[in-house]
Amino acid sequence: MGKKIERIAVLTSGGDAPGMNACIRSVVRTGIYHGAQMFGVMQGYQGLINDEIIPLNSKSVSNIVQRGGTILKTARCLEFKTPEGRKKAYDNLVKHEIDGLVVIGGDGSFTGAEILSREYDIKVIGVPGTIDNDLFGTDFTIGFDTANNTVIEAIDKIRDTAASHDRLFFVEVMGRDAGYIALWSAIGGGAEAVLIPEKETSVDDLVDKLMVDLGNLKTSSIVVVAEGEHGGGAMAIAEKVKERFNYDTKVSILGHFQRGGSPTSFDRVLASRLGQAAVEALLKGHNRKMAGMISNHVALTSIDLAIKNKTEMDETLIELVNILAI
Ligand code: ADP
Ligand code: F6P
Repeated sequence: MGKKIERIAVLTSGGDAPGMNACIRSVVRTGIYHGAQMFGVMQGYQGLINDEIIPLNSKSVSNIVQRGGTILKTARCLEFKTPEGRKKAYDNLVKHEIDGLVVIGGDGSFTGAEILSREYDIKVIGVPGTIDNDLFGTDFTIGFDTANNTVIEAIDKIRDTAASHDRLFFVEVMGRDAGYIALWSAIGGGAEAVLIPEKETSVDDLVDKLMVDLGNLKTSSIVVVAEGEHGGGAMAIAEKVKERFNYDTKVSILGHFQRGGSPTSFDRVLASRLGQAAVEALLKGHNRKMAGMISNHVALTSIDLAIKNKTEMDETLIELVNILAI
């Protein structure tokens, strides 16, 4: 079991995600509830290196459960990828007598946490906070549901103008190398097709499908394109399609709009449950684990597995887009 955990710090790292604040609030209040002293690290790993470690009490996390973004701010910190950078970070954790660290972020942040806790005597627990939903060991990451709702809201609006002008729209969405946002929002937005990195779709097959739709008197179409798909993104795909399919075609790249906004109830509850689970895992002596949610139950997965393993994309969901687009 090792030294009793009495002082816990929390940080957010990598891309921000709606629900991170709800998670910070849960981590802090669960820690206080169990008698621990709580600290926040500003700016992710950059703040650990720069010694931006601040004490947090229950009031510090009031009135944030509904806010998007992260009150602790975040950063992509290259210096932490160096042994010298991590040494500085660890020295600051020792200076504040921090026994355990909760890292809210994605696979990059988890990689950093795993290396730090192997190099130094600091216990770490990860919480999956990224809109990309690309982490093994959890059915959902914090921020995914809210990002999907944001994308669907945009698709609904784009469909209004597409239908008014009889146009074909390519809507590019985030997700880094994964197609979860694209697939879920294609189903929820009633898109005619979806292009994702996990499933190759040729331009010819796409054009054939759009031709059939037109034949079925579908005068407006929406194709959702994951930024990581292999055809070079929505702009490039649209150009290739226009060469073979003479139709009024437009492209919308949604961009960082997808990262903001007040978290949904689903993300707030997920964030609150995982925040509690992360602190209680630390207090029970766990280390280098990710607190995730599998079939609506909290599950601890080794951080190593969460980073290295990939969740298979559910083929039936891909097929569902085609079925519902007839
Ligand atoms: P995410 O956590 O959303 O995947 P990044 O991939 O940008 O975001 O990672 C966030 C931060 O985690 C990086 O800026 C860096 O500080 C740290 N990190 C990522 N990969 C490593 C690594 N291999 N070694 C040490 N730190 C890393
Ligand atoms: O990981 C979250 C994410 O929003 C990805 O979907 C996207 O590819 C990336 O971050 C964008 O990163 P940045 O905000 O640094 O441009």
